[in-house]
Amino acid sequence: MFTTMLGYVLLGVQKLYNLFISRAKPSAHQFSNMKEFQEIQERAYRYTDFSDHLVTLFEETLSAQPKLIVELGTRGGDSTYVLERAARLCQADFVSVDIEDCSKVATYDRWYFVKSDDIEFAKRFSAWCREKGLPEHIDVLFIDSSHFYEHTCQEIEAWFPHLSEKAKAVFHDTNLKRIYFRKDGSMGIAWNNRRGVIRAIEEYFSTVFQEKKDFRDTRPGWRIKHLAYCAGFTVLEKLGKNRE
Ligand SMILES: C[S@@+](CC[C@H](N)C(=O)[O-])C[C@H]1O[C@@H](n2cnc3c(N)ncnc32)[C@H](O)[C@@H]1O
Repeated sequence: MFTTMLGYVLLGVQKLYNLFISRAKPSAHQFSNMKEFQEIQERAYRYTDFSDHLVTLFEETLSAQPKLIVELGTRGGDSTYVLERAARLCQADFVSVDIEDCSKVATYDRWYFVKSDDIEFAKRFSAWCREKGLPEHIDVLFIDSSHFYEHTCQEIEAWFPHLSEKAKAVFHDTNLKRIYFRKDGSMGIAWNNRRGVIRAIEEYFSTVFQEKKDFRDTRPGWRIKHLAYCAGFTVLEKLGKNRE
């Protein structure tokens, strides 16, 4: 009861607070004549827990020049919208996985939706790719599912062996809290996952990260970029054998 009341109060505070945030219309800062980039900028204008990262996800994906993209956690398809466009531009195959039916959120003809628990699907992923004639190694892996520590550790363990030599593994909600702020200062309401996602990444690298601030880091074989705002966004880029 108290939690629900607090939730309503926070939503009210958020609404009032965001009235005072001045936002530049997307058209005011549209420099690109790329249709897909403009569409993503337009979509990012709608406040969500992921809106600040749509353009970054697009750029990170394009720069990886992927042949195969995999998304864990699809829901309404914000990230799917971005990855679908990047996949089309790169002529890549794109696989989305969710325990719920999200089979209607994209239209790209090389998009595959798999309704499954992502850990279970990881076990049969290679065979599934062979059956469909898809590359077996993932160039961009986007993880945005339960955000729980144990589950994220399992995702890393189950999916990282499928990464290609120079793959990127991208995580959302690496700075998830009850109240978060976007880059323009606007406020959003989420939940406290007790550092679940960032803690799983810390465990993978046997280190500690200060996720409340942006940071860059390099670990053997990996380059790490972290953006703290809008619930956090972290890119792990494999450096490839010849650059380790
Ligand atoms: C935060 S939402 C994804 C948001 C989406 N990436 C976007 O940008 O709109 C999390 C999704 O992960 C899914 N999910 C949670 N646990 C999962 C699991 N074990 N396997 C597959 N999907 C899972 C949920 O059903 C939910 O749709």
